[in-house]
Amino acid sequence: MTGRTEREGTVTDAVRLRDVTEGDLPILFEQQWDPEANRMAAFPARDREAFMVHWMKILGDATVTKKAILFDDQVAGNIVSFEQSGVPKVGYWIGKSYWGKGIATKALSEFLGYVEARPLYAHVAKHNVASIRVLEKCGFTICGEDKVPFGAPGEEVEEFIMKLTSKQKAECTGTKV
Ligand SMILES: CC(C)(COP(=O)(O)OP(=O)(O)OC[C@H]1O[C@@H](n2cnc3c(N)ncnc32)[C@H](O)[C@@H]1OP(=O)(O)O)[C@@H](O)C(=O)NCCC(=O)NCCS
Repeated sequence: MTGRTEREGTVTDAVRLRDVTEGDLPILFEQQWDPEANRMAAFPARDREAFMVHWMKILGDATVTKKAILFDDQVAGNIVSFEQSGVPKVGYWIGKSYWGKGIATKALSEFLGYVEARPLYAHVAKHNVASIRVLEKCGFTICGEDKVPFGAPGEEVEEFIMKLTSKQKAECTGTKV
């Protein structure tokens, strides 16, 4: 019994979070090495060496909450929370083959149970409609705007700053395929 509703392909019980291990890094590297995903997130890919150095640092940093997102026991992505300039933030990445199944929504919903800091912030490119929906469905609201360098030298992408204020774990609603 998986708890999955075959009619809707509900993913509720197929998505789990667990701590990221060093063994997950090769697949997480491949998932961020994707031009479409990079444009979507307005976040450049790291080459293998830079990625491994970055993630080994994260793995050794107890102040960063980092979880692998499992879908049917496969590593579908990662979700992290960290402090930047004294502000708690959340970020996530789903491998392209897992997009559009409700996995990010479910993962963020679960993750909010691990991270107590409120308000909790997320930066999201204005064109990243999917991620904005994920955040909205988990209770985040737009509280500001910013610009980040992305693309050719001198180019910038506009982003929303989104904020979750509630102390409660958000009730996310999207669990479909
Ligand atoms: C953005 C991302 C996390 C979404 O993950 P996902 O698991 O596909 O998201 P979900 O399936 O939970 O979908 C959430 C909502 O976005 C919508 N959505 C999904 N893909 C979409 C797309 N390409 N365009 C528009 N809407 C989309 C879904 O329909 C759903 O909305 P709905 O409930 O109103 O129907 C994933 O595409 C990703 O990791 N992209 C690359 C990295 C990134 O952008 N990270 C976030 C940085 S802020």
